[in-house]
Amino acid sequence: MTAIADHTTYWDRYAAKTSDRTPQDALEGAFGWTQYPGHGPGAELLGDPVTALELGCGHGDAVAALTLNGVETTGLDLSAAHITSAYETWGHLPRARFQQADAMDYLADTSRHWEAIYSIWGAAWFTDPEQLLPAVHDRLTPGGRLVFSHAPAIPGSYGCQGTYGAGYAGPQVWIYRWAYEPETWTEILHRHGFRRVHARVEPAPEPDHVGTLLVEAVRP
Ligand SMILES: C[S@@+](CC[C@H](N)C(=O)[O-])C[C@H]1O[C@@H](n2cnc3c(N)ncnc32)[C@H](O)[C@@H]1O
Repeated sequence: MTAIADHTTYWDRYAAKTSDRTPQDALEGAFGWTQYPGHGPGAELLGDPVTALELGCGHGDAVAALTLNGVETTGLDLSAAHITSAYETWGHLPRARFQQADAMDYLADTSRHWEAIYSIWGAAWFTDPEQLLPAVHDRLTPGGRLVFSHAPAIPGSYGCQGTYGAGYAGPQVWIYRWAYEPETWTEILHRHGFRRVHARVEPAPEPDHVGTLLVEAVRP
């Protein structure tokens, strides 16, 4: 059997495809939850945190935007290529930190707590919520917020979703994502001790286009 490319390699390839932007472009509407630039809510969903952690920060643009508003923010990402890009572009910002790590490994190893933990189409989409949510709950300060966004579930297709990451004629690599309707996310988050859960699909700017699953929850 051919060797299966690992996830880090997959995300490093993705990083190379998405790196073509100037810092000015990158900061333009950098903190958004949806796939439509300038559409939908922004960083206000995090409340007014002093510290924040992004799970799957990619090139680090949202981390940069938060730190420029005074929030001490750590961005972590599985991909070394993403973290190198984030350092090169935003490493000079005094309140920004970047670290290459798998989200689960990082949360298990750290003794820190954050007032906000968030993921924008990031690691929260690619990690089993039954593993991730207890780990995030543990690392939030009381009153701290978890917010994440990604694509809405395809109706009738729920739970773990496998997909070939490099096409059907490319390297044999697959990734997993987790998909649920907002009501199910609410139930899952309650079961893991979160409260004030608000899960919904943010509509796209065009009718009938793909919206954005957006979930907010608080550790009591
Ligand atoms: C679709 S990109 C989104 C990046 C960024 N948040 C953005 O909005 O541009 C998904 C990101 O999640 C990262 N990622 C996926 N699984 C991860 C994991 N288990 N731990 C940490 N990062 C992960 C990938 O490396 C990639 O940078």
